[in-house]
Amino acid sequence: MELASGLARLGTETAFEVLARAKALEAEGREIIHLQIGEPDFDTPAHIVEAGVKALRDGLTHYCPAPGLPVLREAAADYLSRTRGVVIEPSRVLVAPGAKPFLFFGVLATCEPGDEVIYPNPGFPIYESVIRFAGATPVPLPLREENGFAFTAADLAERLTPRTKLVILNSPANPTGGVVPATVNAEIAALLAEHPCFVLTDEVYSEIAYDDVHDSIASYDGLIEKTILLDGFSKTFAMTGWRLGYAAVPEQLVEPLTRLFINCHSCAPPATQMAGVAALTGPMDDVRAMIEEFRVRRELIVDGLNALPGISCVKPAGAFYAFPNISETGLTARVLQDRLLTEVGVALLAGTAFGEHGEGYLRVSYANSQDNLRAALGLMHGLLERTAG
Ligand SMILES: Cc1ncc(COP(=O)(O)O)c(C=O)c1O
Repeated sequence: MELASGLARLGTETAFEVLARAKALEAEGREIIHLQIGEPDFDTPAHIVEAGVKALRDGLTHYCPAPGLPVLREAAADYLSRTRGVVIEPSRVLVAPGAKPFLFFGVLATCEPGDEVIYPNPGFPIYESVIRFAGATPVPLPLREENGFAFTAADLAERLTPRTKLVILNSPANPTGGVVPATVNAEIAALLAEHPCFVLTDEVYSEIAYDDVHDSIASYDGLIEKTILLDGFSKTFAMTGWRLGYAAVPEQLVEPLTRLFINCHSCAPPATQMAGVAALTGPMDDVRAMIEEFRVRRELIVDGLNALPGISCVKPAGAFYAFPNISETGLTARVLQDRLLTEVGVALLAGTAFGEHGEGYLRVSYANSQDNLRAALGLMHGLLERTAG
C-alpha cells in the first residue's frame, strides 16, 4: 500500500537514530559514552516530582481544558512577564506536552505553500522538517562561527521578502550554544516589527545563558503581538520525560492552536501541569546548581576539544552544547560521527544533522559527568591521532 506522499517531506531528529545505534552497540557489550543527548543528566528537582505525585494522588487523572490548567497558564504568564519584561495575559498562554507541539502546530497554523519561513541553520532539525511538511519554503539563515554562531541584522534583512510569513529564532541555540547579543536583537526587532510576518522565538534554553541575562526578541516594541514566545520545562527543570511546554501566542492564534491541540493530544496531563506550577513558582536552587555544573563542564569540554588534533572550538555562550570545528581533520562530519561511535564508543552528532551549514562541525552535548567528558576526550584524542598519523 502506498503511504501519503507528504510523509516524504517530514524529516526527523538524528539524535534519536544515533541513540538507537549506540544502544544496539551497548547490547553487544560495548561501552558507549553518550554525548549525543539533548537533555540534562540531572533528575527533576524533588519538590517538582512531589507536586506531580501529589496531583496524581489528589485525583488529577482526568482530561482537563485543552489550553492548559488556569493555574499553570497564570504561573507561566507571570514567569514570562517577569523574565521578558513585557505584560503577558494568562489568556494568551497555552500549554502542551512539550515545546515541540508549538513548533509543529505553530508552523501548520501559519504557513502554507507559497509562504517562506526563515529559520536558523545549523538549527534544531524540527524547524526545517515542519516547514517542508507544511509545504512552505524553508529559507536558511546561516549561523557563522565568526559571529559566535549568531547572525547579523543584515543577514536577516537580505532574506526577508513579501512572502516571508514566519521567522523562527532560537537563542540560546541548539546545536551551537550561540546567543544573539542584545545589540543585534534590537536591530532585528526593528526589522521584524515593520515586516508583516509572524515570529516564533524558541527560548527553551533561556535560563542556560552563561554571560548575560537572557535577552528575548519578544521584549522589544511591537513584537509580542506577533510572536509565539516559546519556553518549556525539559531543559530548565530537567523534565524531558514529563512532556510539558508553554508559549505566549498572538491573540489571533489562541483559538486555532487550541483547536489543533483538541484534534491531537486533547490536553497536557494535568498532574504534569501541577508539577509545572511547582517548577515555575518554587525555589530555583536546583536549577542554579545545574547551570553552575554546566558552566564548569563547558570549560572542561572546550579546553579539551581545543587540545585535540585538527579541532578548534569557540566557547558557547549558552545551552549545554559545544560545536567544535573539525575541518582541519580532513573528515566530513558524518564520517567522524560514525567513526567515533563505532571505533571508540563516543556517541555525538554530525553538525549536518542540523542542516547543511553544519558541515565541518560536530555537536557535543556536555550533559554528562566530568569523568565521562574526560574519558570521551581521551578516546577522541586517540582516534584523531591515528587518523592524522
Ligand atoms: C531548540 C529546541 N527547541 C525545542 C526542543 C523540544 O523541547 P521539548 O522537550 O520541550 O519538546 C528542543 C529539544 O531538544 C530544542 O533543542
